[in-house]
Amino acid sequence: MKERIFIGAAWPYANGSLHLGTLAGCMLPADIFGKYNRMAGNDVLMVSGSDEHGTPITLTAEKEGKTPKEIADRYNAQHVKNIEELGITYENFSRTSREFHKKVVQEFFLRLYDNGYIYRKSMLSPYCDHCGRFLPDRYVEGICPYCGGEARGDQCDKCGKTLEPSELIEPKCKICGNAPVMKETEHLFFKLSAFEEKLLEWLDGKDYWKDNVLKFTINWIKGGLKDRAITRDLEWGVEVPLEGFENKRLYVWFEAVIGYLSASKEWASIIGEEDKWKEWWEGDAKHYYFLAKDNIPFHTIIWPSMLMAHGGLNLPYDVPANEYLTFSGEQFSKSRGIGIWIPDILKKFDADVIRYYLSINMPEKHDTDWNWEDFVAKNNNELVGTYGNFIHRVITFTQKNFGEIPSPGELTEEDKKILEEIENTTREVGESIKACHFKEGIKRVIKLAQTGNQYMNENEPWKLLKDDRERCATVMHICLKIVKALAVCSAPYMPHSANRIWHMLGYNGEVEKQNWEEALSELGKAKLEKPTPIFKKLELEDIVPSSDPFSKLDLRIARIEKVREHPSADKLYVLDIDMGEVGKRRIVAGIKPWYEKEKLLNRKIVVVANLKPAVIRGIHSQGMLLAADDGAPSLLVPNDEAGKQVTAEGIEPEPAEMVDFNDFKKLEMKVNKEGFVEYGGRVLADSRGRIKPDREVKEGTGIR
Ligand code: MF3
Ligand code: ZN
Repeated sequence: MKERIFIGAAWPYANGSLHLGTLAGCMLPADIFGKYNRMAGNDVLMVSGSDEHGTPITLTAEKEGKTPKEIADRYNAQHVKNIEELGITYENFSRTSREFHKKVVQEFFLRLYDNGYIYRKSMLSPYCDHCGRFLPDRYVEGICPYCGGEARGDQCDKCGKTLEPSELIEPKCKICGNAPVMKETEHLFFKLSAFEEKLLEWLDGKDYWKDNVLKFTINWIKGGLKDRAITRDLEWGVEVPLEGFENKRLYVWFEAVIGYLSASKEWASIIGEEDKWKEWWEGDAKHYYFLAKDNIPFHTIIWPSMLMAHGGLNLPYDVPANEYLTFSGEQFSKSRGIGIWIPDILKKFDADVIRYYLSINMPEKHDTDWNWEDFVAKNNNELVGTYGNFIHRVITFTQKNFGEIPSPGELTEEDKKILEEIENTTREVGESIKACHFKEGIKRVIKLAQTGNQYMNENEPWKLLKDDRERCATVMHICLKIVKALAVCSAPYMPHSANRIWHMLGYNGEVEKQNWEEALSELGKAKLEKPTPIFKKLELEDIVPSSDPFSKLDLRIARIEKVREHPSADKLYVLDIDMGEVGKRRIVAGIKPWYEKEKLLNRKIVVVANLKPAVIRGIHSQGMLLAADDGAPSLLVPNDEAGKQVTAEGIEPEPAEMVDFNDFKKLEMKVNKEGFVEYGGRVLADSRGRIKPDREVKEGTGIR
């Protein structure tokens, strides 16, 4: 039976590039779900867009000295391009900065206002005297009152609670760092508290939801719902259509979720059927929302309450929120530079390889990790070795020996079993996707390719070719049926590759536009094209360049605590040094003729902290200080505190336990034209600045 399906995928902020987490958490699952449902003959309306207002955008703009509009334009354009490259299909990918959206938001707002769900109230808001402004949302940071973690004014990333800026403990202005004062100002509030009962009633029938989503939501509601301020002291945003609020804007979350509705209406208007959106929002339709777990309360509590307050619009049917994708065990973080950005990874790999790995590794029930070794292994073993290999050998063999899809002769019991398996796979993949079990679906696809390989190996068509051409034709016909089913069943996951297979089979058009049942239909007699391999093997070394040997060094800033003369050598000092968290050490250094004792005391130097200890004239030396040497030593001058690391720019330190002196000697450091110390063109620096020797030396002077 034909169904009407609305799909909302969370709107990414247009304040930076998309990262793999966004793709894995909402865009990809939404797209797989959308593609399948369209192929299954359902009426799909899938929308999303750029979330372009609020403090995420204005803060980025301020940091870069650009206007919020410039930032939003730049990243919206990049998002749209990446979405196209990834093969993600929306009926409408819109923007919250469009006039169309603003109009829909204002109408929605006024309806809630007229229905009595929005009221004015004076409140205390954090205000920075120094900056002369209120500090909405992300402009204030502090400690989360619920979990004690570091939080922003809008949300605590640690425990996931949504916050009001005034709730933060020890708040600080994000711009200048000062503690804000609380100042009275009037805001508009949404009566969220009015919906506790109604929400619980609505959730009552939702036992098909993911366990964690349902539990999280119910706990949240049972913890008590507070009315929420829906205006902010900002200039960038949707204007409030009420007198007295000219200087305020609607809160970004309040208006962005309305984007699901506005983008639907906009779509209807674009296709020239103004009222068509109503079929999804007012008629019989199931609404699915795809997002990562930090967005759950906005989609299972706030947006449903807003919809109830509005009346007459469909509520979410399911919110199959995903957990997080981590990167080598760590959470993606723009600020800490952890993660993989879509524009970067798209330069290196085909979109379908990325889509495949994220599908089979989707954080459906728990966090999953993006791991390069696993990525390479899955690509090589599953995509190339099983799936790609089967398709390639089937089409190559048939094309060469038959030139077209051969007609089958009589079928054996085994052949019939394979046909049954094709039928089962097609059904099961469909059922898995329908239930939002995306991993399960793609695994089933790979299993069919495995079956295909086995069937071909057992029947050895290359032997049949001479003695029993008819049987050979039958075997290849069955193999091609598997290939066709693979193309159809993998289309939601890997649209580009599925399409290529489709064309290799001699079919026209896009496989995405076919009916799901097409997987089972007759093959016809199409001419076959000579195939090209669909996927290629990857080498880990090409992806993760083995790190520079310099990364093995542990260079530390040390403070000299004590200076003594070496008892048996006139050029040597024995220095007791302090390296903060690394600890205290004793080292021997040959600088006595050039540095007086007093000049050295309390001075900061740069030390190789993990050099194999050596005995120098009878005294153990646990490290080596660095100096430029043009005949006389010149100590390097650090900028930071003792214990802090010194690195070569662009080389992530991964210090070895111990470094051999001979290996150390190979790492040539010298003074460059500007007078800084460099290694292979990379300047040495600590977190406060670059490193120079304590006097001017000639360019090219070596460090020892
Ligand atoms: N921009 C938000 C985020 O990245 C998500 C907004 S989803 C919305 O967390 F559609 F509701 F706006
Ligand atoms: Zn300030």
